[in-house]
Amino acid sequence: MSAKISVNLANQGAVINKNIYGHFSEHLGRCIYGGLFVGEDSPIPNKNGMRTDVVEALKHIQVPVLRWPGGCFADEYHWEDGIGPKESRKRMVNTNWGGVVEDNSFGTHEFLELCEQLGCEPYINANVGSGTVREMAEWVEYLNSEGDSTVVKKRWANGRHEPWGVKYWGVGNESWGCGGNMRPEYYADEFRRFNTFCRNYGKNRLYRIACGPNVDDWAWMDGVMKVAGRHCNAITLHYYTVPSGVWEKKGSATEFDTAEYYSTLKHTHKMEKLLKGHLAIMDKYDPKHRVGLIVDEWGTWYEVEPGTNPGFLYQQNTMRDAMVAAINLNIFNSHADRVVMANIAQTVNVLQSVILTDGDQMVKTPTYHVFDLYKAHQDATLLPAEVECAEIEGFRQVTASASEKDGVITMTAANLHADKAEKVLLEIAGCDVKNVTARILTGEIHAKNTFEDQHAVEIAEFTDFTVTEAGIEMNLPGCSVVEVTVRV
Ligand code: AHR
Repeated sequence: MSAKISVNLANQGAVINKNIYGHFSEHLGRCIYGGLFVGEDSPIPNKNGMRTDVVEALKHIQVPVLRWPGGCFADEYHWEDGIGPKESRKRMVNTNWGGVVEDNSFGTHEFLELCEQLGCEPYINANVGSGTVREMAEWVEYLNSEGDSTVVKKRWANGRHEPWGVKYWGVGNESWGCGGNMRPEYYADEFRRFNTFCRNYGKNRLYRIACGPNVDDWAWMDGVMKVAGRHCNAITLHYYTVPSGVWEKKGSATEFDTAEYYSTLKHTHKMEKLLKGHLAIMDKYDPKHRVGLIVDEWGTWYEVEPGTNPGFLYQQNTMRDAMVAAINLNIFNSHADRVVMANIAQTVNVLQSVILTDGDQMVKTPTYHVFDLYKAHQDATLLPAEVECAEIEGFRQVTASASEKDGVITMTAANLHADKAEKVLLEIAGCDVKNVTARILTGEIHAKNTFEDQHAVEIAEFTDFTVTEAGIEMNLPGCSVVEVTVRV
């Protein structure tokens, strides 16, 4: 065997928060409009305006939490523009994304309807940059209060009697940049001020999320944790994979050579270093680990698909993206004790989407299938996986993670080599290895699903393994992701 993954059932880690498998949907390009929401009058099949095909596909991968309305859009979003009769909702120009008209036909009620259809938790990221404390406080009241107030009566008049009990509450997005270009000390004080007036109503307890750093901005993490750490439940981190590592040279989503494939994966592995670095800073101010880390924007960011609006950030998705997803999700799993949520950017038609749409057509991307292969990790107990293997370009050829839930061990691994198969031994101590099944996603590094060929890349049953005294001996093709399930 040239690679070995070792897991021990007796060596149990933290529970993997299902929210690590979360998603992000911004008013950006065709994520909301056309992607998730088409309106009740659309000829595209929908329920209360939400695309039936997309909702069904997302339910299949068990989306646990959905972040909305941005992103940069969040700090220009005024929630009252998106409630009440649609014909009288305010129109605005989406200055962040493509300069298109936003008619606010998808607002608070629609977002929460979408979450109800998906069976997921809403995560609302509220406006600090151009909003007021009163506006934010009243949004929380509108969402969560049962009281007989003018704000709540407005919700009743708009057709919703029961409060929604929204829990996940983000106070500003990228406040170091598009959210207001603030300094960490200033934002930390703003967080404290805004957060103070976001009240808990009834039994609902807000889970208060502070805006954290971009990439390796250690000073931002330090400054915010120092001043606001004890007032928040979690702090965020944003890190996007750019193939060259240089923002100005993003590269194509579909046309790349093997060197660029490896360089993309190499830059993805930076996530590990970022988590370790930021968690160490958080430890200084929060030694008891009360504050969670949320990676609420991650994924690949390429040049937009030629011929599309540059402000819409629409890109295709190949097996390279599947590898990026596998690496990141294994890294998040391995930090299950501290990473409480992660949200891929973004759900539909934007950046590393799990779904692409074109009119009434829908395509599941290779990244979608990775979320399918990994879904058994949600709320399972981490079994720390040790990996011994060769290195490629400074990172390990095999990435893996494992968990156990209800007597089922799930191990997910990827062979990151572009085209060389690898013999991998999966050794599981502490149980009888039998009842083994496996699924695989594999393809040439450029393989993708298109509207013309929607099923080019799909999950298949994986049978190229044998169970021996030593464990499970697998032959993993190059550029593949596998899920192995063992029932103990
Ligand atoms: O996901 C696209 C954008 O990337 C988000 O709006 C912003 O938060 C980040 O810079």
